[in-house]
Amino acid sequence: MENILAIETSCDETAIAIYNADRGLLAHQIYSQIELHKVYGGVVPELASRDHIRKVLPLIEQALELSNLSPQDLNAVAYTKGPGLIGALMVGATLAHSLAYAWQLPVLGVHHMEAHVMAVMLEERTPEYPFLALVVSGGHTMLLQVNAFGEYVLLGETLDDAVGEAFDKTGSLLGLLYPGGPALAKLAEQGDASRFDFPRPMTDRPGLDFSFSGLKTHAMNTIKQHALDDQTRADIACAFEDAIVDTLRIKCQRAIQQTNLSRLVIAGGVSANKKLRHFMREIMRSLQVDVFYPRHEFCTDNAAMVAYTACQRFQRGEKEGLEIEVKARWPIDGTAT
Ligand code: KG4
Ligand code: ZN
Repeated sequence: MENILAIETSCDETAIAIYNADRGLLAHQIYSQIELHKVYGGVVPELASRDHIRKVLPLIEQALELSNLSPQDLNAVAYTKGPGLIGALMVGATLAHSLAYAWQLPVLGVHHMEAHVMAVMLEERTPEYPFLALVVSGGHTMLLQVNAFGEYVLLGETLDDAVGEAFDKTGSLLGLLYPGGPALAKLAEQGDASRFDFPRPMTDRPGLDFSFSGLKTHAMNTIKQHALDDQTRADIACAFEDAIVDTLRIKCQRAIQQTNLSRLVIAGGVSANKKLRHFMREIMRSLQVDVFYPRHEFCTDNAAMVAYTACQRFQRGEKEGLEIEVKARWPIDGTAT
């Protein structure tokens, strides 16, 4: 009946969670820095690090209080070790190591993208292994074959912008505030899907890699060629979103054909997108593929997914050494700690 405390500070959310191996999630809090970064149009790394420092300890105190636990009840401290912003990661890593040292507990460093995939395991309905995972976040776009916990085969990834990044940049071109993803999706609801037809990048050649920077350029050129009234903005947002969703659908369908897997997990910040969720569920139903998503609040960054992942690793006897280590880049295949 292990209790794992997890700290997530890889980007612009300070999040803390406590997960119990038998009882599940005992507490989880997310403090979003969006308001802080909004005026700059994106995340400012130095400001992110400083804000994590301000928020992380009070959030830990609250999480312990909410779960009615004291540090003596904990069995391990976990943190997001990478990939992410190096300074932001360092805040979580340093604090996790310091607390673990003071409380005489083992410490575990978790892969952020592995945690995004594992977020789905916090739901009532969970996929059996093996399954296919599409991870779409602000920094990454990956198709993975997940054979078992900790066994990931990278089938494809983006060669340039991540999907969330493309949403954010196109949102900014349309005059939307950071993060552009949810704002663009909202604007697209008013759009006429038949007005513009955006390309589906890299779908005309074989393979499972992605490229989204051309789509952003296509959006930019369309914006330049038209008077940007509200309807046109919505129509462009709609065409952009449709192109992203359809491109992801084509690549998932191809990966399913290639692997013969019949379960698909869609995770990461962009998996909160309603059109993507609805469209994928419909298409995959017709292909008899079962689709799994984390609940909305566990699609974007959170510590619950980190705590769950750390618990699995803890139960396998894994732990970190005393050296404080973070990784701005960290391939997911061949992960472990
Ligand atoms: O996973 P996440 O919280 O952070 C990273 O690990 O990067 O993902 C954040 C990304 C942002 O680019 C944001 O615009 C995007 O997820 N996002 C969305 C939606 N909600 C968040 N993109 C499209 N539609 C949404 N509803
Ligand atoms: Zn993330």
